[in-house]
Amino acid sequence: MRISVIGCGYLGAVHAASLVELGHEVVGIDVDDRKVRALCDGRAPFYEPDFQELLAQSLISGRLTFSTDVADAAGARVHFVCVGTPQKHGEYAADLRFVQAAAESLLEVVEPGDLVVGKSTVPVGTAAGLSQMFGEKVPGTLVAWNPEFLREGFAVRDTLYPDRLVYGVPDGADGERITGVLDEVYARIVGRGVPKVVTDYATAEMVKTAANSFLATKISFINAMAELCEATGADVKQLADAIGYDDRIGRKFLNAGLGFGGGCLPKDIRAFMARAGELGADQALTFLREVDNINMRRRIRMVELAREVCDGSLLGKRVAVLGAAFKPDSDDIRDSPALNVAAQLQLQGAVVRVTDPAAIENSRREWPHLDFAETPEEAAERADAVLVLTEWKQYRALDPVEFGKHVAQKRVLDGRNALSRTAWTEAGWTYRALGRRAG
Ligand code: UGA
Repeated sequence: MRISVIGCGYLGAVHAASLVELGHEVVGIDVDDRKVRALCDGRAPFYEPDFQELLAQSLISGRLTFSTDVADAAGARVHFVCVGTPQKHGEYAADLRFVQAAAESLLEVVEPGDLVVGKSTVPVGTAAGLSQMFGEKVPGTLVAWNPEFLREGFAVRDTLYPDRLVYGVPDGADGERITGVLDEVYARIVGRGVPKVVTDYATAEMVKTAANSFLATKISFINAMAELCEATGADVKQLADAIGYDDRIGRKFLNAGLGFGGGCLPKDIRAFMARAGELGADQALTFLREVDNINMRRRIRMVELAREVCDGSLLGKRVAVLGAAFKPDSDDIRDSPALNVAAQLQLQGAVVRVTDPAAIENSRREWPHLDFAETPEEAAERADAVLVLTEWKQYRALDPVEFGKHVAQKRVLDGRNALSRTAWTEAGWTYRALGRRAG
């Protein structure tokens, strides 16, 4: 099937190449000329494990092209909308500018019978609005909402092997036709018996925001427990292990630490609250405000802990920050807790050096006032404290004995509860972590 993908960021570019892998002929459209050129040359414009190889293979097959001109999407039967929906400046609501622009540009190319499929995370009601717009301007165009649940760092695997498919479709014959077309698009996945939920637009839109809200709540729950552990002397890691054995609770997403960041969870819970307010149902989601508060408090607490270990003052103290990406295996620094903490430390007088295996280039661009180092050893040279704020495997694998030779003071703050406390303390380090006793 010939398919277009509008928006070639973390979601769209991976989706486009994955659709080729699933047997289709795909054109990816993006307004960013630099990104399109990189993709055409087979260079991934962002760090995502396995994506580079998938992109290369798809280009070699001759069934994947990229363009800045939406006219190149003409002739496709299915058009996926994969553009970003960031938080509006100064507001909680989602900014739908890019979705609107993508839909308007598609009006130039869609023909009656074509299917427009939204994948972006949007406030409930967006799909119905777009369906109405396409229905008025190009009667016979079909609209579906098919949310995406990929995690950065696992984007390729999550796209090719999703744990469920959700189709938001209109009632009646159109809904059945759309379901048939999407089944054809995802034939290989459907054929594996992956669970499929065919529902209305509103439910499909809400599935995505509800899922992200649940994940955010789970993280903030364990971080709230971490606050209590700090007050009581209990250990949040053991607490998470112990409650996680109950499979109704589960151990996943119960890693206490610096909390969630990135381009999805923080803005999605805020947009969900804003939309609930518009719909007169704000009370239903007031708990998400607390989820957000708990999350933001972790960053402040991390800075306090750093001050505490630096004998009560950050002024002039050399601090190494290991990690800048919002999570490992990504170069995404949107709302990165690590960079937020690094900047706060610097503002409070510390001499901060940040390192990251993949995100230094992005960080330099967005945070030019911070200092960066290529390696953890360089960042830690003569440091008074080392903060591990993104749990890259390279940092988990550091040898505390060898690494200790670089620092002035062997003090490590494990912001992600990712290091072996025993190994670091045995190597003579003072080990501190959120929600755990001093080691
Ligand atoms: C999240 C969801 O997990 C995906 O299912 C969803 O498709 C995606 O948003 C999206 O909306 O597009 P992602 O933002 O890539 O994916 O990252 P997560 O793996 O969810 O991690 C989010 C943040 O939570 C990271 O900062 C991570 O460090 C933090 N986290 C995660 C914790 O602090 N503790 C945990 O136990 C797990």
